[in-house]
Amino acid sequence: TRIDKAGHKHFMAKEIAEQPTVIAEALGHYLSAEGEISLPEPGLDFTSVDRLTMVACGTAYYACLTAKYWFEQIARLPVDVDVASEFRYREPPVPARTTALFVSQSGETADTLAALRYCNGRADRIVSVVNVPESSIARESDLVLPIHAGVEVGVASTKAFTCQLSVLFILALKAACDRGEMDAATLADHVSALRSLPSVLSTALEANQEMQKAALKLAEARDVLFLGRGLMYPLAHEGALKLKEISYIHAEAYASGELKHGPIALVDKTVPVVVMAPRDALFDKTVSNMQEVMARKGRVILVSDKQGLAEAGDGAFATIELPTVPDAVTPILYAIPAQLLAYHTAVAKGTDVDQPRNLAKSVTVE
Ligand code: G6P
Repeated sequence: TRIDKAGHKHFMAKEIAEQPTVIAEALGHYLSAEGEISLPEPGLDFTSVDRLTMVACGTAYYACLTAKYWFEQIARLPVDVDVASEFRYREPPVPARTTALFVSQSGETADTLAALRYCNGRADRIVSVVNVPESSIARESDLVLPIHAGVEVGVASTKAFTCQLSVLFILALKAACDRGEMDAATLADHVSALRSLPSVLSTALEANQEMQKAALKLAEARDVLFLGRGLMYPLAHEGALKLKEISYIHAEAYASGELKHGPIALVDKTVPVVVMAPRDALFDKTVSNMQEVMARKGRVILVSDKQGLAEAGDGAFATIELPTVPDAVTPILYAIPAQLLAYHTAVAKGTDVDQPRNLAKSVTVE
């Protein structure tokens, strides 16, 4: 198949826009028409799993960090997450009944592959979540979970991230069912939340202009902070990573609750602060952190839903409204502004969006 930009200015823009379609494709591979979860052979029964160790690099690492919240909160399964370059040389003990899970778009990242090889013979089984089923990481796994995102050309990962999240969320639901942590009605609710994603993401993509406007502010900045709590914390990291990768602006992510332990010292009127805050159980906590930023004249870009913006949007420099979705799937939806803010900032700065300096799509050497 010929790979072109399909009318978009950049591959990254095309790949961002493709997300409703590729997520629907991914869901179709893992959910039956009746809403049952089906994994590829040989499958995975979580009744024999006491611990999950997840290892990855870059954006895939933030997908793992997000999944930790799902596995722990929904399936009550303990999870360790590590970046591959640290994991492989720390040589951590691997307790009995551990499943090791590796996430990699390319399936060829050298550190991730080395971490996988370390786990071979130590963990009960090796599972991988990859976009390239013929890759080295897939070949050396006991169970391969393809994300079905299609070829991703832009160096900064976008559609692979949301497809990784979708597959990992389904895996967490499977774990919850196997471990007796979820009844049929709750599972059905989660499945319908997943199935609403393609249309909800399409709606989010329509907020493009608001994001473009906010990005003009980001493009002037030297430093940008991203804040989030709970499921929005890993996503804040992903937003900061995207921004630095393609716009070369220094960006840092913090758990909102850590604001007062350092980053608040950086805040003044020159520092935009992107706050990812759906109206969830932690919303009020995040809002109070956001108000501390505003009190120091930080320029807040608040990403939330209708109710969240009505309650807390006053005083924000810019607001971005997303559809209201069940809490568990917010990371998949809030990935859109994380990506588009970075994209429009890079376009405003005139950087090479698809081929950022010094970066490679696939890091096959150490
Ligand atoms: C590189 C890419 C990132 C990617 C990371 C991990 O740094 O630029 O976009 O997230 O590698 O790649 P993988 O193929 O293992 O997901």
